[in-house]
Amino acid sequence: MPSRVRAEQLYARACRTIAGGVSSDARRMAGTPLFIDRAAGAQMWDVDGNRLLDYVLGQGPNLLGHAAPVVVKAVTEQVARGVAYSAQHELEAEVAERICAMVPGAEKVRFNTVGSEAVHGALRLARGLTGRPKIVKFEGNYHGWLDPVLYSVHPDLALAGEAARPNAVPGSAGLTPHAGDDLIVLPYNDLAAVRACFSRFDGQIAAVICEPLLCNTGAIMPVPGFLEGLRDLCTSAGALLVFDEIITGFRLAAGGAQEFFGVTPDLAAFGKAMAGGMPVSAIAGRAPVMDAIADGRVAHAGTFNSQPVAMAAAAAVLSTLDEQRDTIYPPMHQVGQWLMAGIREAAERHDLPVLVSGPGAVFQVYLTESSDVRDYRDFAACDRPRMARLHELLLDRGINTVPRGLWFLSTAHTAAHVEETLQAVDEAFAVL
Ligand SMILES: Cc1ncc(COP(=O)(O)O)c(C=O)c1O
Repeated sequence: MPSRVRAEQLYARACRTIAGGVSSDARRMAGTPLFIDRAAGAQMWDVDGNRLLDYVLGQGPNLLGHAAPVVVKAVTEQVARGVAYSAQHELEAEVAERICAMVPGAEKVRFNTVGSEAVHGALRLARGLTGRPKIVKFEGNYHGWLDPVLYSVHPDLALAGEAARPNAVPGSAGLTPHAGDDLIVLPYNDLAAVRACFSRFDGQIAAVICEPLLCNTGAIMPVPGFLEGLRDLCTSAGALLVFDEIITGFRLAAGGAQEFFGVTPDLAAFGKAMAGGMPVSAIAGRAPVMDAIADGRVAHAGTFNSQPVAMAAAAAVLSTLDEQRDTIYPPMHQVGQWLMAGIREAAERHDLPVLVSGPGAVFQVYLTESSDVRDYRDFAACDRPRMARLHELLLDRGINTVPRGLWFLSTAHTAAHVEETLQAVDEAFAVL
């Protein structure tokens, strides 16, 4: 067991003045949360000097690895020129042009700081443009922590209702009392349910929003025809299709999930990987849709929007991803696939019921007898306590993964890291 003495001291100190001792609920852990001293490439070192091989990567953003030289250089140079102008500058046009060149559905963009804001803006645009109230979201999908969408992410099954007709279950106390009234929650990967919903609420649905690869509940691929079906249904009903690409954007491919799966939404929200760890997000979509912001019908604002340091990081990251796409994406998926195959082999050796799925650059390890996880109910049926135990066992062996079983890859992860990781997986499986 690695020593965590300093982390425990810092946690005790933090608990005195920071509510719960952490700054985001996502950082809560069963015991002492991680306290990091520094990070570089695929590695982090905690305040007790323990080295971690990192598959969390800041919950996804560090696609080029921690402290990637291009990001450090761009940020350092920009800091000396000022960090907050609240005025226009050249870098933001450069980033916007780059996004429009990379992302199939992007003709115009607007910047924000975090993913939750970009999603919020996209849904406001959809309602503003269509004049309709209702939004369809899918159970198990996470779209940020703001009231209108914080429903049915990982709901208590006792409250969640029938799998085919899920209830909208609030994800927090204190949401605006009627925030969920115009939210319709449907099962992921169930096109028939979406079709039925469009007939039932004819002319009332402004948008369907989804994670095109569901990464907040495993790493669940859309079943063949699901995204295409959503596209067709939205088009024929005059509703907007919104992809939440906060995780998938610039991670699955240079053009995000829309390039990877070949389905183009009307609007998409980007964040995380677009700026190498600097906080920046974007709403990107078809020009006629984005023009509802351009002409002032739909309000969009933010003190830190297109903050120049974040834009400098985004410009550096996106130009790297765009210009080196052939040497970035195939190897990153490949390293992930090696890891996935090695985990499957280790599970067989130890006779453990393990399912590993995902495209490679992001994937999920489930403990389940099932050979397919298609939606939240399948995920909820997995052995989640044992998945949490696996996370702890790996962490004790210097491997940092997202506690619910998700793994993110970066361009800094190598075949040697894979070998080292599989050694730890083997030991952890032996204990499990
Ligand atoms: C798919 C998805 N959408 C939206 C968000 C919210 O982004 P942020 O935490 O930057 O507000 C997240 C965060 O993890 C996410 O995974």
